[in-house]
Parts: sequence; structure tokens; C-alpha cells
Amino acid sequence: MMVENKELKIEKIKNGTVIDHIPSGLGLKVLKILHIDEDIKTSVFLGIHVPSKKMGFKDILKIENRYLAPKEIAKISLIAPMATVNKIKDYEIAEKYNVPPPKEVIGIVKCSNPNCVTNLNEPVVTEFKVISTEPLRIKCSYCEREMEGKDIIHNII
Ligand code: CTP
Ligand code: ZN
Repeated sequence: MMVENKELKIEKIKNGTVIDHIPSGLGLKVLKILHIDEDIKTSVFLGIHVPSKKMGFKDILKIENRYLAPKEIAKISLIAPMATVNKIKDYEIAEKYNVPPPKEVIGIVKCSNPNCVTNLNEPVVTEFKVISTEPLRIKCSYCEREMEGKDIIHNII
């Protein structure tokens, strides 16, 4: 009897970045914060709800000819702290790393308190202290508003 290959195939990329092990449902958010929907010049593959041995289901994002900036990695650590980033060079994995847990949250999240000084058109860069990482909880250094979960994800700048 023929054994059916049920493995999902997404094209391998030659050069670029594979962001793997994104919690299922959050891949689109990761894509959004990278702003690769505007003025796109290379191929991008987004797998949503892909079977995964480790996670049951996951999202996976492959971006050709694009590497991540530190600020982008910091944003991904807020959305998908368990994500694995693979740097691909000439079809090989040149580097594989887990996103580091968020330490400084500076200029990447908007405070959800509308009365916060950071929301009053003042030239102030937002800043949060990380109170806990699992689950992630952050506290505005200006107004002390605490944020977690979707509140953080929806306010990523
Ligand atoms: N990948 C890719 N293009 C390449 C090389 C790898 O798109 N040229 C993708 C693979 O399809 C996989 C991810 O990058 O989704 C990581 O590749 P690899 O380390 O070979 O897979 P795993 O061993 O399953 O990764 P992990 O151990 O991190 O789960
Ligand atoms: Zn605030």
C-alpha cells in the first residue's frame, strides 16, 4: 500500500528569513508589523494553521531577500515569544535562534491609556517596564498603565 505524504509543503527560499513556530492565528500580525505588505518586491509565504509536531498547529512566515532589524525582532518577541528565526543563505540555514524575551519595550508599543502623556502629541517615546514574561505583562513608565495579551499586540507600533 502506498504511504501518502501528508506533510504540508511550502516552497523553500534561497535567501531571506523564515519565522517559524508562530502561535496559530498570529502569523498575520507578524506579517503586519514587518510592513512587507507595502511596496513588495520579493516573495512572501505565510502558512496559517500548519500542522506542527511541537505545537499541534502553528503559523510560519517565509520572506525572501529580507533580514530582520533588532526593532522587528523586539516586536516579534511581544507577539510570538516562542518563535524561531531562521536566516537562510543560499538555501542553507546560516543561523537559527529563538527570539530573546522582551527586556526593554521602548518605542514599539503605544500606551493604551488615551490620557497618557505619550498620547498627547508630545514628542515622547513610549517606554514600558516588563513586569512578567509568562504571561507577558508590561507597565507604562509614564502613566503606570499595565498592559497584557491582546492589548499589547493591538498596540504594537
Ligand atoms: N526553510 C526554508 N528554506 C530553506 C531552508 C529552510 O523555507 N532554504 C524552512 C523549513 O521549511 C523549515 C524552517 O525553515 O520550516 C526551518 O528549517 P529546518 O531547521 O530544516 O527545519 P526543522 O528542523 O523542522 O526546524 P526546527 O528544529 O526549528 O523545528
Ligand atoms: Zn502610559
